[in-house]
Amino acid sequence: MTLKALREAAASCRACDLYRYATQTVFGEGRAHARLMFVGEQPGDAEDRLGHPFVGPAGKLLHAAMEQAGIQAKDVYVTNAVKHFKFIERGKRRIHNKPKIVEIRACKPWLEAEIALVRPALIVALGATAAQSMLGSSFRVTANRGRIVGGAPPILATIHPSAILRAPDSDTRHAEMAQFVADLQGARERVGAA
Ligand code: URA
Repeated sequence: MTLKALREAAASCRACDLYRYATQTVFGEGRAHARLMFVGEQPGDAEDRLGHPFVGPAGKLLHAAMEQAGIQAKDVYVTNAVKHFKFIERGKRRIHNKPKIVEIRACKPWLEAEIALVRPALIVALGATAAQSMLGSSFRVTANRGRIVGGAPPILATIHPSAILRAPDSDTRHAEMAQFVADLQGARERVGAA
């Protein structure tokens, strides 16, 4: 099995109902044997249209944080716990809708297969959905943030970059960003050069 074959197979996934509404499966991308793997929640509106993970506003923020943490985007593998965009239509806008546990479970074999092929030295779980997909639904990011948990591969859980975008004011946003960058620096230090 290769990542290319996996991506092609995932394109016609019908394991849950999300494929009915999304434009396409958004599979993981990046370095085939990356030492660092980032796992987000699900593609957003831009990712759904363009077919690539983390290319919208949250992705831009993630890339900025990686750069500040000394992590090169070309060296990592980036994916999501759920590979179809789940949304609610509000007028012309498609608003992100959190995936349910059954949808996260239905998508988990794809994530497990990506992890088995990439074999990263460390996974960075971005937010609760990613962390709970890999560590169970009782896992709390707030209680474990920035710590290395799990075993093979180990996982570092942090917030989702969209939480920084939602910060109520610029002081909070700067503080959240600084903490997020510190978490990513911790991840980089753990794996040596990304
Ligand atoms: N948020 C995610 O969790 N993943 C993406 O690919 C984009 C936004």
